[in-house]
Amino acid sequence: MSESLEDWRRSDYCGELHREHVGRTVTLTGWVHARRDHGGLLFVDLRDRSGLVQLVFNPEGARAAHQRAGEVRAEYVIAACGEVVERTAETRNPNLPTGEIEVRVRELKVLNGTRPVPFPIDGDMEVAETTRLRYRYLDLRRPKMQANFRLRHRLAKAVRDYFDAQGFLEIETPMLTRRTPEGARDYLVPSRVSPGQFYALPQSPQLFKQILMVAGFDRYFQIARCFRDEDLRADRQPEFTQVDVELSFTRPEEIHRLIEGLMIEVFRRTIGVELAAPFPVLPYAEAMLRFGSDKPDTRVGLEITDFSAAFTGSGFKVFREVLEKRGVVRGLKVPGEAFSRKDLDDLVAMAPSFGAKGLVWIRINADGWQSPVAKFLSDEEKRRAVEAAGLAVGDLLFLVAGAESVAAKAAGQLRLHLGDKLGLVERSRWGFLWITDFPLFEWSDEEKRWGAVHHPFTAPREEDLADLEPHPERVRAQAYDLVLNGCELGGGSIRIHRPDVQSRVFGALGISESNARAQFGFLLDALGFGAPPHGGIALGLDRLAMLLCGATSIRDVIAFPKTQRAVCLMTEAPSEVDARQLRELSIKVEP
Ligand code: AMO
Ligand code: AMP
Repeated sequence: MSESLEDWRRSDYCGELHREHVGRTVTLTGWVHARRDHGGLLFVDLRDRSGLVQLVFNPEGARAAHQRAGEVRAEYVIAACGEVVERTAETRNPNLPTGEIEVRVRELKVLNGTRPVPFPIDGDMEVAETTRLRYRYLDLRRPKMQANFRLRHRLAKAVRDYFDAQGFLEIETPMLTRRTPEGARDYLVPSRVSPGQFYALPQSPQLFKQILMVAGFDRYFQIARCFRDEDLRADRQPEFTQVDVELSFTRPEEIHRLIEGLMIEVFRRTIGVELAAPFPVLPYAEAMLRFGSDKPDTRVGLEITDFSAAFTGSGFKVFREVLEKRGVVRGLKVPGEAFSRKDLDDLVAMAPSFGAKGLVWIRINADGWQSPVAKFLSDEEKRRAVEAAGLAVGDLLFLVAGAESVAAKAAGQLRLHLGDKLGLVERSRWGFLWITDFPLFEWSDEEKRWGAVHHPFTAPREEDLADLEPHPERVRAQAYDLVLNGCELGGGSIRIHRPDVQSRVFGALGISESNARAQFGFLLDALGFGAPPHGGIALGLDRLAMLLCGATSIRDVIAFPKTQRAVCLMTEAPSEVDARQLRELSIKVEP
């Protein structure tokens, strides 16, 4: 029953019709969103990417169109020609932007039918994500998804306009390249012409953008695809998009102002929100202490207190022993009435999921402290604890003890959980902040060596250079992260531009001279030819789009994303390849 459009031309988008169009003859195209048969009159909601409009089919005067409309089903593709008319007061639909009008159809063409759809396109019905991903083209038809991608487009456009206005050049960097160490595994691509050799897909344009600075471009940006083979989460995909930026002759403060300006522009142009800048700045150590995270959600109205001094020499063995081993006791104070005995038992049971070995609760009652460990605590340590956190009757205290790196993060997780449970999250606010003063190195127990917290091209603070060899743990990086609502939106740094400093950092990381040459010889060469001081940042475009859309997964702002197992359910990639292709690549696959 498919007909062709022939000489029909679409005159308008459905969702853009309103009162001023009344009396006009329009030609519309799109999908049947819903159909209602009111005996006699027949109504079809017609949908295109702009929205919905109601079509009316009256057997009187347009018998053929009415008859055809009786045959269409949801998701049929149709074209309709008719007159825009005002609806009567009682039939107006205030929930629909086009609800004041409808189109009285004279002629209808059915352009295509459809197989039964696996889930309805209308409404907000919960559909299993595997089904959505398998039939992604249907999922993307849903108005919410269409809105997400409209927003993502506006976001990318605002980014390009902003950087253009600031004198930046967008320069593309290769996809088939050598590995750039950003901390994940590489995706490798075999070379046919050089058997046994592989390209790596870029984890980021990091080395190329530094080399563009050596090349004198001075201000570079790129909306760049990056590839990382790592464990996937709600905010991680194996291929994702960065807003990648690099500047010469710059300081961290200049980069912060530049990116704040970008956020202001983006928020204004995508969701009409006016942000206030500068964003707060929090040193890494303070973030870990007060919020137990290097990406704190500052919208949560709870702060962590350090109780280590209060419980030194504690009568409670767990605290005493942890503190003797230079660990810490960290805690959170919350209103006690919000928690039943069962809530407390549940939280203690949940402690391991926060990364804590255990969890102690203490109720501050008028007649004393109530807690499974109260009997072990001396009056003196209670007094010190009251002082540390300003405890008062009615308060409830949660405590975790352990090595600093463990206890801080566990308290941070607990903070988010309690904040959510107690409704202490200011969801209407945008919680931006900068985290600065990261350590340059972190110790890996697994590999028994120092690793780079960011990447090995991050510059140490000048005043910490002397500590590089004797005390790598004391060296701070000229690095910064941008955090929004508890999500790491971006990270960057001032780079090393002197070959001697770069060699010393490789040395501290246990990367030998020859290994460094083999991996990044081209960068070291470039740094030797008059490299300007430079620095930059990269922002996760998908994460930003996700937060702007109010989505909870970046998969909702990526047209064709992959599952947790890095599979595309629509194309079924990755897939096997035929033997001839493997032979050409000199590759044998072990069964
Ligand atoms: P970094 O590794 O911190 O820095 O990445 C920058 C930002 O990219 C986003 N991001 C991701 N988004 C989705 N899925 C992923 N798998 C993923 N991985 C990272 C995050 C992150 O903050 N070259 C440096 C930047 C620089 O130093 O200039 C880099 O890539 O939002
Ligand atoms: P245990 O000695 O393991 O029986 O623990 C006694 C109490 O101390 C229990 O309430 C535990 O939840 C708590 N606890 C154990 N380890 C820790 C820890 N690292 N931090 C806080 N509380 C702990």
